[in-house]
Amino acid sequence: MTTRFMVTTPIYYVNDRPHIGQARTTIAADVLARFHRMAGEETFFLTGTDEHGSKVEEKAKKLGMTPRELCDLNVGYFKRAWESLNISYDYFVRTTDVRHEKAIVRLLDRLYKARTKNGEEVIYQGEYSGLYCLGCEKFITEKDLVNGLCPDHQQEPKRITEKNYFFRLSSYLKQLEDLIRRDELMITPEEKKRETLGLLKQELEDFSISREKVSWGIPLPFDPSQNAYVWVDALPNYISAVGYGDDPEQFKKWWKEGKVIHLIGKDILKFHTIFWPSMLLALGEALPNQIFVHGFFTINGQKMSKTLGNVIYPETYVELYGSDGARYLLLTQFPFGQDGDIQEERFVEKYNADLANDLGNLVSRTLKMVGSYCDGTIPQASVYESSDENLIREATGCSDLVWWHIQEISINQAIDQIMKLVRSTNRYIENQAPWTLVKNNNMERLQTVLYVSCETLRIISALFYPVLPQKCTRIRELLGFSGEDMIPTLNEANQWGRLKSGTKVSIPESLFPRLEKTGKSAIKVGYEKSKEAVVEESNIPLEVSYDEFSKIDFRVAEVKSAEKVKGADKLLKLKIEIGTEEREIVAGVAEHYTPEEMVGKKIVVVANLQPAKIRGIESNGMLLAARDGNILSLVCLDKDVKGGSKIS
Ligand code: MSP
Repeated sequence: MTTRFMVTTPIYYVNDRPHIGQARTTIAADVLARFHRMAGEETFFLTGTDEHGSKVEEKAKKLGMTPRELCDLNVGYFKRAWESLNISYDYFVRTTDVRHEKAIVRLLDRLYKARTKNGEEVIYQGEYSGLYCLGCEKFITEKDLVNGLCPDHQQEPKRITEKNYFFRLSSYLKQLEDLIRRDELMITPEEKKRETLGLLKQELEDFSISREKVSWGIPLPFDPSQNAYVWVDALPNYISAVGYGDDPEQFKKWWKEGKVIHLIGKDILKFHTIFWPSMLLALGEALPNQIFVHGFFTINGQKMSKTLGNVIYPETYVELYGSDGARYLLLTQFPFGQDGDIQEERFVEKYNADLANDLGNLVSRTLKMVGSYCDGTIPQASVYESSDENLIREATGCSDLVWWHIQEISINQAIDQIMKLVRSTNRYIENQAPWTLVKNNNMERLQTVLYVSCETLRIISALFYPVLPQKCTRIRELLGFSGEDMIPTLNEANQWGRLKSGTKVSIPESLFPRLEKTGKSAIKVGYEKSKEAVVEESNIPLEVSYDEFSKIDFRVAEVKSAEKVKGADKLLKLKIEIGTEEREIVAGVAEHYTPEEMVGKKIVVVANLQPAKIRGIESNGMLLAARDGNILSLVCLDKDVKGGSKIS
C-alpha cells in the first residue's frame, strides 16, 4: 500500500494581503508535498484562508466594504501570490465556503452533545471577562502587556465581558499529555514538545468557543445569538477540507489513514498542540500525526509589522529574484525550525553565489560544452575512472540523504546536500578540464566526462525540482526530456545511466541571471509597491488628499521602441517620448504585450517617480494598466493627443 501523506499550512487571515512570513511556511509545505509526490506517495497539500472574526469585520468597516468583499479581494491576492510562487496545493479551503460552514455546524453540534469520561457536558455556558487583542484575535493577560499594549500588535486590548460557551479543556489534558509524551502526537522540534508539556503543567483554563459581539462568524447551532470563536471555526479546516461531515470515504482516506503533518509558526503553538487535539479527542476523532513548529523571522533585526513599514510582500521577491529564486532565498536564510533574521544584503549574495554561480554555471557550461564538443547530443560514456566513480557514487547516493532530511523536515539540510553535489560536479569538471581534453584530441575521455556531467545534472534536476520547480523543469527540457519524463521521481535520482546517448540537448539561456546590489532594498520597494498595487488592483478607497494626489504627474507618452529584458519573462524595456523628452522605462507587461504591439502606442505614465533599478536597468517612470484576473490592459486615450500632454 502506498503511504498517504497530508501536509497543511495554517490558514491565513484575510484582513490583509499575504506577506513573506506566510509565504515561507507555504513554500516549505510545497517543498514537502512535492518531495512526497516524487517519492510516489499519494499526497494531499492543504492551504487556505481564515476569514471570519472581528479582525476582518473591523478592517472591512474601516475600508467601507462588506466583510465578504474584503475576503474576496484578499483571497485573490493570496491565490495570485501562491500562483506566482508555484505553490502546488491540492485544495484551498476558505472558512466562508458553504462546505466548511456546514462542517463547523455539524462539529459544534456533536461537541454540544458530547460528554466527557466523567459524564460532564463538553460544552457549558459561562461568563467571560478579559482583555481582548483584536490583532491576535484572542484574550490576553495583563502580564503579557508591555506599557499597556499588546507587544505583538502595539495596540491597547479591549476589556470584554460576555456570555460565552466554554470547552471543558481540563478533561483532556492528562490524556493529551500522555499522547504527546509517547509521540503519538509528535511535536517537533523537541524544544516545542517541551514547551507544550510545560504549558500542560500550568493550570490551563477551559477556553471559550463563542463570541457574542462578533457578528462575522458562524452561528452556534444550539444558540444562534452567539457566533463560533474564530479559532474554533478555523482549526477544523484541516478536517472540513477532507470531507468531515460530507464525504466519509475521503475523510477516512486522508484524516484517518494518511500521515498528517501540520506546519505552523510558533505564534500559534498552543492552539495547535493543545486546543485542536483536545477538540478532536472530545469528538472521538483521530489526531494529526505530527505538528512541526517553525521559527519566526525578523527583518534586519526588527519584527515585521505594518506600523514599522517593513512588511515585505512575496511578489516583490518574485519580481526581484524570480519565482524559484524567491522560494530558494526564503528557505535558505536560516534553518526552518529556528528563529532568524532576514537581511536583504545577504539575499543578492546568496542568489549570486548559489544560483547564478554554482547551479547556473553548471547548467550552462555543461550544456554549452555538449553543444560545441559533441554536436549538441548526449555523448557516449566508455570506461569510468575513479574520479568518475566517486562522483557517480556521490550523485546516486544523494537522494537517500535528501529524502531522509525531508522526512525529518530538515529542509535546509536537504538543500545543503543538493548544493554539495552541485559543487562537487563543478569541481569535477574543473579537474577533468574537458577543454584540455579537446585540445589534446582525447575524444573518448571527453565524452565520458561530459556524459558523467550530464547525468549528474539530471540527478540534480530531479532532487532540486521540489525547491526550484520552474528552473528544474527547464533544465530537464534542455537535457532533452519531454512528456511524462519531465516530472522527476525520487527513484530516478538514485539510478545511473538514464540519459540516452544521442539525445539532442539545447543550449541554455542564462537560467539565473546575476544580480547587482541595487542599494534600494526590497523592503522599501515592497512597501511602496504594496500601496500602488492596492490602488491599482482593488476598490479599496485609500485616503489620499487632493494635495497629495495633485503631486503625481501623469503624462501621455509615445512608445518609440520596446524589447524584452533578458532573463525576465515579465519585463519589457521601453523607450518612450514624453513630449520632447526621451526616457527608458521597465514595465511588467511582457506576458500580455509583445514588443511589436507596444511600439507606437500612446500610453499613460507617472512621470515624476524617482528612478528605480529593475534588473540592472534604470526605469524612469511607470505606465498605467488595469488588471482583471489574468487580463492586463494598458490605459490608453480615446482621442489622439500629443505625447507629453498632462493628465489631470
Ligand atoms: N489564522 C491563523 C491561523 C489559523 S490555523 C487554523 C493565523 N493566521 S496568520 O495569517 O496570522 O498566519 C500565521 C502564520 O504565518 C504563522 O504561523 C507562520 O506560519 C506565518 N508567519 C507570520 N509571520 C511570520 C514571520 N515573521 N516569520 C515566519 N513565519 C511567519 O495565525
